[in-house]
Amino acid sequence: MKNIYENEMKLEFVSKSNNEAFARISVAAFAAQLDPTVEELADIKTAVSEAVTNAIVHGYEDKEGTVKILCKLVGNSITIEISDTGKGIENIEMAKRPLYTSKPDLERSGMGFTIMENFMDEMEVQSIVGLGTKVIMKKVIKKDEVEEETITEVLNQISNMK
Ligand SMILES: Nc1ncnc2c1ncn2[C@@H]1O[C@H](COP(=O)(O)OP(=O)(O)OP(=O)(O)O)[C@@H](O)[C@H]1O
Ligand SMILES: [Mg+2]
Repeated sequence: MKNIYENEMKLEFVSKSNNEAFARISVAAFAAQLDPTVEELADIKTAVSEAVTNAIVHGYEDKEGTVKILCKLVGNSITIEISDTGKGIENIEMAKRPLYTSKPDLERSGMGFTIMENFMDEMEVQSIVGLGTKVIMKKVIKKDEVEEETITEVLNQISNMK
């Protein structure tokens, strides 16, 4: 039997948009231990990028603050928590709706949360006005299961040929 793999890392950086690429690449490098597919890794990068951009643009509104990321690997899943201590969200349900943005003037499309929800298996938003926001996302890396399925399929095909 395989042991359940557990690992953890934390990142903390200043809320400058230059750090968005740093955050997305760092999380992807950590997630690589789970041996994800290129597509799974791209999904994680996009989701991290959306959450970090939100913390910088909405949480701190381009004032200086700290963005924190906590990543945990358990078994074949990765959990990513991205938090800020910025202005917080008044109405979380409304904020999560596709196309809702509080900054239409800044060419925002209001699709960040929708993208995070679609690209990850789970997404939860916790927020208190004046205290900050935390986005918790989880993704299960399915690569191994797919490979096992493929092996089973090939074995079945071989036995059918006999
Ligand atoms: N960390 C945050 N702090 C405060 N408000 C937030 C935070 N994240 C999101 N919001 C609020 O939720 C709204 C929706 O976020 P979402 O990412 O879906 O869209 P957007 O950022 O406005 O546009 P896009 O992500 O498409 O550029 C934002 O417009 C903002 O009002
Ligand atoms: Mg956004």
